[in-house]
Amino acid sequence: MRFGAPVFAPAFWAVFGGAVRGVFADVFVVAINWQYRLMTRTGNKNDRSRSPQALVAMRVRLGQSPGKLEKGRPGQGLTDKMNTATIDFEADLAATAKRVDSALAGLLAETAMPEGRLADAMRHAALGGGKRLRPYLVLASAELFAVPEAAAMPVACALELLHCYSLVHDDLPAMDDDDLRRGQPTVHRAYDEATAILAGDALLTLAFEAITTPGPHADPASAATLVHTLARAAGAAGMAEGQMQDLAAEGRFSADGRPLTLSEREILGLQALKTGALFRFSAEAGAILGKANPEDQVRLVRYGTALGRAFQIADDLLDEEASPEELGKATAKDRAKGKATLPAIIGIGAARTKLAEAVSQARETLVPFGDRAGRLRAAADFAASRRS
Ligand code: IPE
Ligand code: IPE
Ligand code: MG
Ligand code: MG
Ligand code: MG
Repeated sequence: MRFGAPVFAPAFWAVFGGAVRGVFADVFVVAINWQYRLMTRTGNKNDRSRSPQALVAMRVRLGQSPGKLEKGRPGQGLTDKMNTATIDFEADLAATAKRVDSALAGLLAETAMPEGRLADAMRHAALGGGKRLRPYLVLASAELFAVPEAAAMPVACALELLHCYSLVHDDLPAMDDDDLRRGQPTVHRAYDEATAILAGDALLTLAFEAITTPGPHADPASAATLVHTLARAAGAAGMAEGQMQDLAAEGRFSADGRPLTLSEREILGLQALKTGALFRFSAEAGAILGKANPEDQVRLVRYGTALGRAFQIADDLLDEEASPEELGKATAKDRAKGKATLPAIIGIGAARTKLAEAVSQARETLVPFGDRAGRLRAAADFAASRRS
């Protein structure tokens, strides 16, 4: 019998055809994989035809399992890089902040409440600057699910009002005792402590008024979920508990008054509450407004959680490394007070590594959204690179 003859027999292909095709397919995929690695190493990053996404498409065409694209290295996709490069994030944030400012001014307008000391103090707290990153995230996450800005803006404003209240109270002498906020005197400095407490209370309450204001875009079912979710994020299961743990870590409530020695895990846990809870809400809000499917809701929650972690690590690094002029608030205070921060416990270099990891995690959750998540992706980078 001549060698190779069975290869031409139909029976051979019936029995071994699948295996042979599989081997060829594997060799083909490995070859493309290597070519892709070579290509990215030589810097040809604009050729998307053999990107990991194309590789997955190829596997599918060859009848193989699509593999684990979503679990690729964070930021690996070429679209990630190109997309972020197309957004001038700081300009986009500044333009959005202007629209948020005018919506907030509307909510704090004279017609909405009696003029006087309380209204003035609320405006001092809410209209005097601020990056407006949380409202930006509400709008960007809503955009991901095709929710118009007009429908998302009351939620964005509600979150910002609640954040402003948290800053007013955070700065009080009984808490962090700060005199400077957003480049201006803190509310208790510009007015007095009692006024600052009441302005904070009123901003918190106004947040819930804003989120439930009837209007052409208001959807009662979503509003109820948003109120519930925001309340949980702000209260004893979220920000307020995180603030309590933050003060406890200073040793305020211990018999000897000495700062507690928290582990890295405990610090990240308290920060997930004091800062993470509101960031989580900022991303989740868009998914709620857009009635996103459960998988996407989970993705947005994960994104917000990772972003919140990054944001507070960056805040703690800036406290050590930036100037009050840059930040518009006092610096070099956390260590002296015995605050529980990552730079204090693991050092600046290791905290930077944790920051980069949190940004990567945030970006990774966005991979399934592709180009549509450009704004959220750029916001994650900004959380780490910001200087104010
Ligand atoms: C400061 O938040 C409080 C923290 C959670 C670290 P931001 O840095 O977002 O403050 P503003 O709103 O821009 O002033
Ligand atoms: C504040 O954290 C978190 C809030 C809930 C307001 P910080 O105390 O570190 O914020 P800054 O540095 O005063 O802005
Ligand atoms: Mg604080
Ligand atoms: Mg503070
Ligand atoms: Mg701080």
